[in-house]
Amino acid sequence: MNIDDEVALYLATAQEAARRAGAILESWAGRFTVSEKSRFNLVTEADLASQHAIVETVKNRFPDHGFLGEEGLSQPGRNPEFRWIIDPLDGTSNYVHRFPYYAVSIALEHRGDLLVGVIYDPTRHELFWAVRGHGAFLNGRPLRTTESETLATSFVVASLPVAVTAGDPAIDRFLKVLQAAQALQRTGSAALNLAYIAAGRMDAYWSGSLKAWDMAAGVLLVREAGGRITALNGTAFDVERPDILASNGRPIHEELSGLLS
Ligand code: IPD
Ligand code: CA
Ligand code: CA
Repeated sequence: MNIDDEVALYLATAQEAARRAGAILESWAGRFTVSEKSRFNLVTEADLASQHAIVETVKNRFPDHGFLGEEGLSQPGRNPEFRWIIDPLDGTSNYVHRFPYYAVSIALEHRGDLLVGVIYDPTRHELFWAVRGHGAFLNGRPLRTTESETLATSFVVASLPVAVTAGDPAIDRFLKVLQAAQALQRTGSAALNLAYIAAGRMDAYWSGSLKAWDMAAGVLLVREAGGRITALNGTAFDVERPDILASNGRPIHEELSGLLS
């Protein structure tokens, strides 16, 4: 990877912030208290402490940049060209129940395009990162998506809305794919799911109910590992819209899109 000094500093800052935040999450394990922001939508002191550490780390180096973060963070910044998109703990339900599948997600957008993405799983010490045009990596090893061609041989993952009810169209979509894919799972961390597609551990993932901070870093990882990202119906992806279809870029993308649109 040969990236210019400025971008290397963005990446190093995101990595440092993600590791620091991950250590904070682990330090809160077993002593946090849980509140509900809305039904089944959880938050703990760890979410807030993690976001605080990330913002502090980034602001130290880039005081003019803007921020968008899950825990009430929205700052345009004096330099409107740069925006850090942060989920300080993706997979809070898993974290609360000590199910080790959660992560810190940090992306940097430049002029509206994703430039850097970092996802850190503190339970496995796995640091995923990508820089636009320079590939995706896990602890320094280059990543590549899988080669599965059909849903019948694919491992697929979905996110459903947090407080989903029986009549929700998301349930119909889930049932359709359940009958077509070799395996369909719901794992509880959108960010890690995207990192896992990049790492060749899953073939595809979709959701119709995400926020920018759930997806931004993972989208860049998938693209840089050779995968494909669209809206559910196969049209262009927009980080400000709630739906995403991510895959290894093989024909399963069209197959899934046909079932999900
Ligand atoms: C959630 C996770 C989950 C997805 C939810 C998100 P949080 O993020 O990514 O997989 O289904 O829509 O809200 O609340 O744990 O940061
Ligand atoms: Ca999230
Ligand atoms: Ca979160």
